Amino acid sequence: PAEDDARVAEIKRLLQEQNAVLVAHYYTDDAIQQLAEETGGCVADSLEMARFGARHEADTLVVAGVRFMGETAKILSPEKRVLMPSLEATCSLDIGCPADEFGAFCDAHPDRTVVVYANTSAAVKARADWVVTSSIAVDVIEHLQARGEKILWAPDKHLGGYIQQKTGADMLLWDGACIVHEEFKAKGIEDLKALYPEAAVLVHPESPAAVVELADVTGSTSQLIKAAKELPHDTLIVATDRGIFFKMQQAVPGKTLFEAPTAGSGATCKSCAHCPWMAMNALDNMAGALREGSGEIFVDDALRHAALKPLERMLNFQR
Ligand code: 13P
Ligand code: SF4
Repeated sequence: PAEDDARVAEIKRLLQEQNAVLVAHYYTDDAIQQLAEETGGCVADSLEMARFGARHEADTLVVAGVRFMGETAKILSPEKRVLMPSLEATCSLDIGCPADEFGAFCDAHPDRTVVVYANTSAAVKARADWVVTSSIAVDVIEHLQARGEKILWAPDKHLGGYIQQKTGADMLLWDGACIVHEEFKAKGIEDLKALYPEAAVLVHPESPAAVVELADVTGSTSQLIKAAKELPHDTLIVATDRGIFFKMQQAVPGKTLFEAPTAGSGATCKSCAHCPWMAMNALDNMAGALREGSGEIFVDDALRHAALKPLERMLNFQR
């Protein structure tokens, strides 16, 4: 629509005027991903977003995603201004792991190495020895296990359970979940596989174990897009937020992509899985943030210093 075109033009102008760059997650709207691409920003998984923002020379990072992504960008680049289209865009994993309760959990298990998922507040990261994203979690836990360390893991119990099962590490799990991925149903995927037996199944590890068991490939959003390209299959069933289809379909224009069914959906699904917080990112509020300087992320200095250490461990980790 014409209104969108006007917003896009305004955002492009403001990005340039303010020496700002757009860092977008794969789960944001197609128009935002497209804009990030066209303006020299990035569309990426959460680890790549962190790396891109930290290395980029812009004065301002506009982070289209959820709050932890903006906070991570600010922790890694305190000298940059970090804006988000909406400061309300949180994550059920973050909500489900309040810093005070998490601190008490850590205090009760001082013998364990604390590893937290990136989908947490700066205050939770500040208590951690390591931060990981789904693209690097298995490698980091394998490394810690080889050193004989016992792990305290938070907050995603599904991702934690998946890592535990892959590595055999001793992991104590926090009881959190992603409300989007938790809805995928193994039965629905089996029914879809019955209709398309030649299809491969791609699954994000925030999904329940019964769903991960059906996967040909399990991985982060970027890893799933890579797998879509590399697998010989022409038909793919994909269990993650529907936002991923924009870039995935671009990567494999000749392949047929199906959304994995969620609770209550039929065998085939259209736009069933979509994060309500990712959906808060829009052209309108992005333009507003740039125009008015609203939606700026601030992280308390002491917290920032404490959270930087486990984040830097992640960024410096080599397999
Ligand atoms: P990725 O790191 O795979 O992008 O996943 C992050 C996430 O859960 C965003 O919702
Ligand atoms: Fe959090 Fe799930 Fe939304 Fe990702 S998709 S931001 S894990 S609620």
